[in-house]
Amino acid sequence: MLNFEFWSPTSFVFGKDTERETGKYVKRFNGSKVLIHFGGGSVVRSGLLDRVKESLAAEGVAYVELGGVKPNPRSGLVYEGIELCRRENVDFVLAVGGGSAIDSAKAIAMGVKYDGDFWDFYAQTADPENTLPVATVLTIPAAGSEGSESSVITQEDGMLKRGRSHQSLRPVFSIMNPELTYTLPPFQTACGCADMMAHIFERYLTNTPDVEFTDRLCESVLQTLIRDVPIVMADPEHYGARANIMWAGTIAHNNACGVGREQDWASHDIEHELSALYDVAHGAGLATVFPAFMKYTLKQDIMRYAQLAVRVWNCEMDYTNPEKTAREGIAKLEQFWSSIGLPTSFQELGAKEEDIPQMAAKVGLKDGNKLGSFQPLDTQDIENVYKLCIK
Ligand code: NZQ
Ligand code: ZN
Repeated sequence: MLNFEFWSPTSFVFGKDTERETGKYVKRFNGSKVLIHFGGGSVVRSGLLDRVKESLAAEGVAYVELGGVKPNPRSGLVYEGIELCRRENVDFVLAVGGGSAIDSAKAIAMGVKYDGDFWDFYAQTADPENTLPVATVLTIPAAGSEGSESSVITQEDGMLKRGRSHQSLRPVFSIMNPELTYTLPPFQTACGCADMMAHIFERYLTNTPDVEFTDRLCESVLQTLIRDVPIVMADPEHYGARANIMWAGTIAHNNACGVGREQDWASHDIEHELSALYDVAHGAGLATVFPAFMKYTLKQDIMRYAQLAVRVWNCEMDYTNPEKTAREGIAKLEQFWSSIGLPTSFQELGAKEEDIPQMAAKVGLKDGNKLGSFQPLDTQDIENVYKLCIK
């Protein structure tokens, strides 16, 4: 295991009706004027936005609102949010929604007190120094942004989808009521499942030895999702399963499962080009990319893949042919994702073979750098992974 520091300061406020306490928590974290930031309207239709506003008003907390965040959130609304916060002297940013609303809120929070273009943070040419506090009321377990130090934004000028990680982006609190996820369309539940599982795989596929404890944590998150996601597909208002899924999503990405080990993240960068080009859901893109990435990197560590197959997918270990066991595990993953309605190929996703060179080039490897660390990939490797997505 490698040395590490794990700083996860977020207060997670979990359970039924917790959104009614939003105002209390904003005050606890010294917010006096809040930007409520949300997406395309699901929180309006469900009545959640009204409950959050009531809770702020009950505590005498002032607020302004900015809705309209799209999945794969765009730079344009971030610029608008920054201007609004400056004009209104906002000192606290509250995202009500999923990863997109949260990531957009994080971008705004970094940009308000910064003199330059907020995109500098995503271009990695500047570090945030004075980020406004961010909090969340989560409505979809998926991106893990409610506990993560990351934000992913698409710059409309060039359609570049890029992430930024910084400790100041960890939310100060996240309200997590599993009941808020009852209204999720099945496809969004499935996309969230793929994203959460992918956050585990990015950590599980490592060359660091002696990480048995975090391996076991990873495996339990995967097993929980494999058990509980089909339950909510059949019964969307199953509180227990929704609750387990929601917490699993946070643990999948707040890095509790990733400390002390080298992580990969190549598949995420390979996916981001798909969602930038075709505007597909991040989880759908990952369901397409990850099995291909696994097949491509199988030989890097056959025993690790076989371990995953045995411990998570209950495959029988073939000691004479561990590669067979490893491949069985990948096949089970594809079957599982297909069974919950996810695409696992370019054809199903709507991606085109002729775009592969353009996407591989856009991943942006510089000066002979390679992508990921499990099996570092060059541009040709990245093209090969995309090609394996064609069935
Ligand atoms: O926009 P509204 O109307 O709210 O509808 C959303 C949206 O259409 C809908 N939805 C959310 N909660 C709902 C609901 N519909 C009904 N009932 C509810 N309770 O679901 C759709 C997807 O929402 P979105 O926020 O886009 O989903 P998700 O949480 O998957 O976020 C995806 C974004 O997060 C980024 C992805 O790249 C993508 O841009 N990621 C962020 C990460 C991070 N910050 O740490 C890590 C991830 O790897 C990921 O890259
Ligand atoms: Zn993800």
